[in-house]
Amino acid sequence: MASNNSIKKTLIVAFSLCVVCSVVVSSAAVVLKPKQVQNQELDRKSNILQVTELYKPGDNVDEKYAELITPRVVDLKTGKYADNLDPETYDQFEAAKDPATSRTLSGEQDLAGIGRQENYATVYLVGNPDDPEQIVLPIRGQGLWGLMEGFLSVRGDGNTIVGLSYYDQSETPGLGGEVDNPRWKAKWDGKKIYADGGDYQDPQIHLVKGGASGEYQVDALSGASLTSRGVTNMLRFWLSDEGFAPYLARFHHDSQGGA
Ligand SMILES: Cc1cc2nc3c(=O)[nH]c(=O)nc-3n(C[C@H](O)[C@H](O)[C@H](O)COP(=O)(O)O)c2cc1C
Repeated sequence: MASNNSIKKTLIVAFSLCVVCSVVVSSAAVVLKPKQVQNQELDRKSNILQVTELYKPGDNVDEKYAELITPRVVDLKTGKYADNLDPETYDQFEAAKDPATSRTLSGEQDLAGIGRQENYATVYLVGNPDDPEQIVLPIRGQGLWGLMEGFLSVRGDGNTIVGLSYYDQSETPGLGGEVDNPRWKAKWDGKKIYADGGDYQDPQIHLVKGGASGEYQVDALSGASLTSRGVTNMLRFWLSDEGFAPYLARFHHDSQGGA
């Protein structure tokens, strides 16, 4: 009988252990995948609700989202809804990687530093979708250390901000990471994007170092000029003609009694 120390037995034990472990790990990955997808979905819904300021701790996210939010896909060029794309399945981040469903931005256009931009984006309407109380817009752009991804919520006039919230960013905690500080986030409510009756392609909102005043300025993050510049630049990009300006224009017309 071969001893327990034989090379053959050692290899059999090692091989069996590898097989058992790989079966356990791959089964866990397969079994947990739906749960992971469900949690990502819950996180997305919770971020959308939080930027609208209609979410209270303890609320059931799925119920509140279903009650309040209608997602729609928007053609960024025309500002019209793209009813051929299903907002439940359309993934604008995937679309941004595919040359068939996105465009390359020139250096001059690419204020947000994203390289490519999807042709269609998903927006989230709060309340009656034909006359929404708020419109939640996805925005993203470079901070100091990497891409910052978030949502901007705007009132139904297409001009007054409710909130700005980042769900993914890698800025330094205490410096650029203060974009997550509730006290800084509270400064956005009521600020305006465009000059009233002015040029609705030319966003005025920006961060200012040391004492923001008026409705187009928000305090920059202290000790984090570079992150602050990133925030201003991505807002300017996504709220200009390159981004949601053609879409938001329909709400300015509505609020002025037009079509
Ligand atoms: C370790 C380290 C981390 C930093 N993180 C950030 C950051 O997240 N965002 C930022 O704008 N500046 C950050 N800075 C500071 C920048 O290098 C730069 O000094 C700062 O943006 C200037 O801002 P101020 O003009 O408001 O002082 C960091 C600096 C160091 C040394």
